[in-house]
Amino acid sequence: MNPLQQAHTPPARDSVARDGATRAPRLEVRGLGVELGGVDVLSGVSLAVDAGRWLTVLGPNGAGKSTFLRAVAGVVAARGGVWSDGEELHRLGRRARARRVALVPQEPTFPPSMTVGSYALLGRTAHLGILGRERRGDLAVVEGVLVRLGLRDLADRPVAALSGGERQRVAIARALVQDASLLLLDEPTSSLDVGHQLEVLELVDELRRERGLTVVAAMHDLTLAAQFADEVALLESGRLVMAGTPEEVLTERTLSRYYRANVRVVRDGDLLLVVPDRRAGPTS
Ligand SMILES: Nc1ncnc2c1ncn2[C@@H]1O[C@H](COP(=O)(O)OP(=O)(O)O)[C@@H](O)[C@H]1O
Ligand SMILES: [Mg+2]
Repeated sequence: MNPLQQAHTPPARDSVARDGATRAPRLEVRGLGVELGGVDVLSGVSLAVDAGRWLTVLGPNGAGKSTFLRAVAGVVAARGGVWSDGEELHRLGRRARARRVALVPQEPTFPPSMTVGSYALLGRTAHLGILGRERRGDLAVVEGVLVRLGLRDLADRPVAALSGGERQRVAIARALVQDASLLLLDEPTSSLDVGHQLEVLELVDELRRERGLTVVAAMHDLTLAAQFADEVALLESGRLVMAGTPEEVLTERTLSRYYRANVRVVRDGDLLLVVPDRRAGPTS
């Protein structure tokens, strides 16, 4: 589904899936708005993403990307509505919501001296019994995710003693352990070197295909965004200014305008490379 089309059409609760059955989008937001400190930092954002798709949220610093993800996850109060598979997320209790949507924040806080295994187990909180005790099944889920993310051997290490790339994977592990169908990632690669950037994004993409997850990721690297997104939404000053495929949104004209930077968009086969270009001098 093209998020831009959705943004300008009235709410459609159901779309027709390939098998002919009607199915609501995995994520649909309507008129999402957030006020912080008396200022509207997000206004009137409407879009939809189908199950199993990857939407990348772009926009310059301060555009409202983190606020958007936080509003979808329900960790900041918001106007408007958020639906997942036809259910209004913000009407669900904390536990029910956590079973549908998981957020990996831009800068996760790790309790001092907590081990990788214990931290990942926190992701099971919404699944635990009334006494809050984990069952064998919960530990098996944690084990499975740690193995899948190559963290099994680090399970007993304090998170604080890991490298940036390992910590990023631990944060993703906690979200995956939550077993939600909508995964929100806030700049998942911003602190990683190029090898680890690709590794983390490939991993998320594999999990998306394996588990049918819907991924919504705020990203800064436009070349990586182009390679991993089915759809791109561009925010500026808290508003959705453009949405569509990477080819539609990542143009020199659009990027120069909204990022106020001279960029070249170069094609190499099916690769779309977005490169800063200092030769034209500063934009006005
Ligand atoms: N607690 C807050 N109080 C007031 N303004 C805030 C607060 N948190 C964020 N903002 C502002 O909201 C805007 C959007 O921030 P953010 O969502 O973090 O942008 P992005 O993730 O795109 O860089 C920014 O202008 C930021 O200064
Ligand atoms: Mg941010």
